[in-house]
Amino acid sequence: MDTGTAYGLRLGAPLNDLAQVGPGTPYGEVLRSYWQPVAKVEDATTRPLRLRVLGEDLILFRTRKGKAGLLHPRCVHRGASLYYGGVEDDGIRCCYHGWVFDTEGQCLEQPCEPDLGLHRDRVRQPWYPVQEQYGLIWAYLGDPAKKPLLPRYDTLEDLAPDEHLIVNDAGVGGGGPALLDFNWLQHWENVMDPFHVPILHARFSGFQFTPEMALLPEVTYEYTDRGVRSIQLRDLGDGRTLRRVTEVMFPNIRVVPSPKLSSGQTNMLGWVVPVDDVNFKIFTLARDTDPEFLDKLRSTHEGRPWRELDEADHQRMPGDYEAQKSQGDISLHSEDHLTTTDQGVAMVRRMMAKQIKLVAQGGTPPGVAFDEADRLVHIEGGNYFEGDALTEELAAAVDD
Ligand code: FES
Ligand SMILES: [Fe+2]
Repeated sequence: MDTGTAYGLRLGAPLNDLAQVGPGTPYGEVLRSYWQPVAKVEDATTRPLRLRVLGEDLILFRTRKGKAGLLHPRCVHRGASLYYGGVEDDGIRCCYHGWVFDTEGQCLEQPCEPDLGLHRDRVRQPWYPVQEQYGLIWAYLGDPAKKPLLPRYDTLEDLAPDEHLIVNDAGVGGGGPALLDFNWLQHWENVMDPFHVPILHARFSGFQFTPEMALLPEVTYEYTDRGVRSIQLRDLGDGRTLRRVTEVMFPNIRVVPSPKLSSGQTNMLGWVVPVDDVNFKIFTLARDTDPEFLDKLRSTHEGRPWRELDEADHQRMPGDYEAQKSQGDISLHSEDHLTTTDQGVAMVRRMMAKQIKLVAQGGTPPGVAFDEADRLVHIEGGNYFEGDALTEELAAAVDD
């Protein structure tokens, strides 16, 4: 008799507690404990822009005096969308009956009411706080009583005169379209999956990065106080070892140093920001003397960018997008068979479950800072080239 056929197959279920992002969902609440990048600074203009972040629809605009605002779209009067609003000096005027709201949702004017609205202070358009930093607009969608400081990152500080701060919201790290149309976690946990690199990015798609990255690494994973890191050792065969450190930092940061192996501390950081449960964006910040640095990093397939490939090309040279999107709009995690090389992924999922519990109990998750002294984050990820490991071990032994 045949065994293991697909007859009667049960499809399984996603790890919804980890994957879902909407208001009130377990990990949605963890994500809402942190500031999230939601747009580039130049996207906030006097023309209202629709944004969808963590499953919430919002309107981003910039007053004529230059202040960015992020409001719930449905006007508190009778529900017309502020997408059609007109931006003025201090706020946005609803197109229907002209109520004006400032960037904190306060109603400044109700033009059809006596005295422009004697009771206008009794209504408030729901709003979220925003800040501008590193060329991005950051929003805090969480409990106002727990609003932390907006962190800074040492790898993005103190630029040399010839260096540029590069801002990208088009999914550099993912390959594929700018708006990625599947669950964000498939992408984020992939950061702790270094073993897909020599297979997917070398054997399948030709050397997508550098020949060194095609070497099967020796990997150890560690919990850090803000996430999980992988330490990947590759023997380069010339007496040197490449020590590549990648990290996930809570709640959705990717620390993936250049796969083209620039040496030292990584010069870029990425945020995997869920639009909703089945779409996400990647915001990447980098520093480099070449303002095109991130564009040049984009993976190509036989020299062609992803968008120029046809269906047969996608099958013959699949990349991150094809692998991760094909796991499903939301992967059915219950059917995964995790093995020893999936240890990093398992650790990320375990730490996520822990943060869910912590946040539900009112605790402070890792990397959330309320003190100015804790605001600057030190980034450890990078590519480090080291001399022959044996030589260094001998040297250490002599020192002892
Ligand atoms: S619906 Fe917005 S002012 Fe009436
Ligand atoms: Fe990849």
